[in-house]
Amino acid sequence: MSGGAEVTREQYERLAAEVAEHDRRYYVENDPTVSDREYDELYRRLRDIEAKRPDWVLPWSPTQRVGHEPVSEFPKVVRETPMLSLDNTYDIQELRAFHERVMRGLGDEPVTYVVEPKVDGIGIELTYRTGVFALGATRGDGVTGEDVTSNLRTVRGLPLALTESLDLTVRGEVYITHEDFLRVNEARSAANLSIFKNARNLAGGTLKLLDPRLVAERPLRVTFYEAVGGERLASTHYRVLARLRQLGLPTSPDNAEAHSFEELREVVEGWEGRRDDLPYEADGLVIKLNSFDQRRALGATAKFPRWAIAYKFPARQMTTRVVDLEINVGRTGAVTPVAELEPVELSGTTVRRASLHNWDQVARLGVGYGDRVLVEKAGEIIPQVLTVTERSSGARFEPPDKCPSCHTPLSREEERVALTCPNRLACPEQLLASLGFFAGRSQMNIDGLGEKVARALLDAELVQDVADLFALTEDDLLALDRFAETSARNLIRAIERARQTATFARLLTALGVPHVGGVAAKAIAQRYRTMGSLLSLLDRSDPSSADAPGAFVRELMDIEGVGETIARSLERFLREPHVRQVIEKLAERGVDPEEPIETAAGGGLSGKTFVITGTLSRPRSEIARRIQDAGGKVTNSVSKSTSYLVAGENTGRAKLSAAGKHGVTVVSEDDLERLLEGS
Ligand code: IVH
Repeated sequence: MSGGAEVTREQYERLAAEVAEHDRRYYVENDPTVSDREYDELYRRLRDIEAKRPDWVLPWSPTQRVGHEPVSEFPKVVRETPMLSLDNTYDIQELRAFHERVMRGLGDEPVTYVVEPKVDGIGIELTYRTGVFALGATRGDGVTGEDVTSNLRTVRGLPLALTESLDLTVRGEVYITHEDFLRVNEARSAANLSIFKNARNLAGGTLKLLDPRLVAERPLRVTFYEAVGGERLASTHYRVLARLRQLGLPTSPDNAEAHSFEELREVVEGWEGRRDDLPYEADGLVIKLNSFDQRRALGATAKFPRWAIAYKFPARQMTTRVVDLEINVGRTGAVTPVAELEPVELSGTTVRRASLHNWDQVARLGVGYGDRVLVEKAGEIIPQVLTVTERSSGARFEPPDKCPSCHTPLSREEERVALTCPNRLACPEQLLASLGFFAGRSQMNIDGLGEKVARALLDAELVQDVADLFALTEDDLLALDRFAETSARNLIRAIERARQTATFARLLTALGVPHVGGVAAKAIAQRYRTMGSLLSLLDRSDPSSADAPGAFVRELMDIEGVGETIARSLERFLREPHVRQVIEKLAERGVDPEEPIETAAGGGLSGKTFVITGTLSRPRSEIARRIQDAGGKVTNSVSKSTSYLVAGENTGRAKLSAAGKHGVTVVSEDDLERLLEGS
């Protein structure tokens, strides 16, 4: 079925249904059954057929998420049943008071609650008619919302058709993950566009774009938490949520039931520390009565239902005073502004510094010494300055014209908004940051080469680039104050071990090519095996120009997971003469590893899927990376295809009960270590 002319209408419909099913597996189950590449192939075939037979196109075809014409404004939607908001509680005492009100209202009947994350996005309501997505509107003020149907159609996790043909109205939230938020802002920052303050603003701003084609380019996601008239679907709210999932509507994997106030308290307390595990921003929990009869008996005030309440997490935003401007020089030469603050408590940690992102942002904020600013700490992202709330008479912050580390005049490179220090090889701050990264666990894994040691090596001029590490001797180290015999021996051994055990993928990652992370490096290393063969491809290729990628870039883009940005960035990096010098120097010193061939069977964990949760002794990215190195797969939520749940401290009940439900083995970090060793 390649061309389209020979395809029957029935085959077309089957293909549309197949692609829609892959969307559901991906967005609802978090458990795709085809690779991205295979998916793209099916999708392309579907689009080709539709181009030839526009009369066949089904309204729910996955291709119909894009391409609608812009609108000039959104029609209003007026609701009969308003979307109420929720009353808030901030601690267990207030929550107990809510529970006591519920008990009084119900004459002390036993109750069950459902606890759901309160996703900080934009509330929406969708209507399905005979199973087909017909209308989607924002919550607005509760009664009047805006019809954003064409924008919502572009949201990949939103089913255009349910798995059954019924009439249904559901409510949920459109949101953006922390990771996608950062990615969008980075791209905007690089394109010199204003950045979004937080993921919620980005989601809201996107939903209100008048051109759905632009919406389709933004990574919106959706989750559902209420069905209007839910009692028609199932006897309790918790069952309704399961039913929504069955119908193809994504729901949170972290929803949990509590059968008493004591259980409720446990679930709520279990969320402490777990909030930062969520891939998106949640500003609290929503606690709802499970029984529809009990909900009806309690009713609502003009503003809030009496059967539900929000339990708000500690604030992530606070105001404080800016005391100074700190200027950072990053690993790749970016010179960025950071505000030094009067210390302030934000969701459990003391914050002393906050990012100002780039110099354009500094100018936009007009921030200066002594100003009061609003600071936000969201997820695992470092705190950032949102706005100036009170301007002082102090001087405004200005971009420097020389590098604070090496005093080289700064430049603005094309494609980067960041002010950069061009002195890549010899700028001490850049070298310091690259040494630490080079030695990191996921890169060359040189134990004992932390920031302090790196600084000592640089100060003593023992190391001018990463290749110099491999010429160090114990005597060199012993001449420094920091080192005694054992520590010197250990570091030399660790360097020796790195020389012998590093793979090409690790070396490539360690060099710190912009955009080339561990996953891309691995894919590239699997194809080319050695630096030598990668470089010989480069030397045979014509250089890329702004509008035409050269042979090197085109060939790399053939690798799954390698796009044009990565390929171009690698080309630019490898064409730098000083980079070639360092690579040659590394090879001369015995660092020129070959990538081991991964057999079809993969590592010892191949075919196993892991979910990592709770507080662990090392960053989650590092643990994930080791699992992947051993051939395993890491996903975010527990489902029946999960093999192991790696549970750290403070693992939430929801994850554990999901594991119990799906028969997933729960392992500790030590158990995981044994699995990895065994593999
Ligand atoms: S239930 C009457 N459940 O929070 C029931 N709302 O302050 C009200 N929200 O407008 C909605 N996650 O936009 C509910 N699991 C969840 C939610 C949730 C986020 C938002 C929603 C609502 C606002 C209420």
